[in-house]
Amino acid sequence: MNSGGPIVSLRGLKRTFEQGGQRIEVLRGVDLDIQPGEIVALLGPSGSGKSTMLQAVGLLEGGFDGSIAIAGEAAETLPADQRTRVRREHLGFVYQFHHLLPDFDATENVVMPQMIAGTARDAALERSQSLLTSLGLGHRLTHRPSQLSGGEQQRVAVARALANQPTLVLADEPTGNLDESTSDTVLGQFLALVRGEGSAALVATHNERLASRMDRVVRLHDGVLS
Ligand SMILES: Nc1ncnc2c1ncn2[C@@H]1O[C@H](COP(=O)(O)OP(=O)(O)OP(=O)(O)O)[C@@H](O)[C@H]1O
Ligand SMILES: [Mg+2]
Repeated sequence: MNSGGPIVSLRGLKRTFEQGGQRIEVLRGVDLDIQPGEIVALLGPSGSGKSTMLQAVGLLEGGFDGSIAIAGEAAETLPADQRTRVRREHLGFVYQFHHLLPDFDATENVVMPQMIAGTARDAALERSQSLLTSLGLGHRLTHRPSQLSGGEQQRVAVARALANQPTLVLADEPTGNLDESTSDTVLGQFLALVRGEGSAALVATHNERLASRMDRVVRLHDGVLS
């Protein structure tokens, strides 16, 4: 399916919101290619449209104009079930607030998406433990989210996003609610893991310092990238 081309290819991506009789043109023609294994920082001030763009690339919402190809598949032409398949086969998500399942421990939170993808339970458990351990959580495998610190919860969310070996990780301010030093640590572990797995990533942030640790920085301003 992906014949060596970019993992993401956006052309003329547009998104306009109608709100209280006003039209807000948030994305006004975004073009972007991300190569396999490339880690791209998406920089932009609050309200510039970073989350809107990640939702588009994540095939989570309609209402966009332009084209979005994921691993060579033109997503806007696919029926809903095929979009879901593309999402499952290729994408992993990390949100600013982790959305972990509160009644399950760290390991189970990482096992769950693997079971949904059809991985056998033993293999899923082994991968969960290995991911969590590589993120420094080997001693927290059976803690529930409420028994973990914010940084630990965010690391579980990182492990969950990588559980099914996505070709592309989409991360929306993955360390946005952490203090500066925890944010540095978690981002470092996130980048090391993504690089180790060979995944590509698109990481929204408004933090220049964090962005400079990635392979490439693109800036969203006035609805276009520079
Ligand atoms: N569902 C919606 N309806 C109307 N306007 C919206 C909607 N979603 C987003 N917007 C507007 O689109 C703009 C971009 O929002 P978005 O959440 O993408 O920004 P962002 O760059 O992620 O900001 P932040 O750094 O604060 O997370 C904002 O001005 C917002 O008010
Ligand atoms: Mg946002």
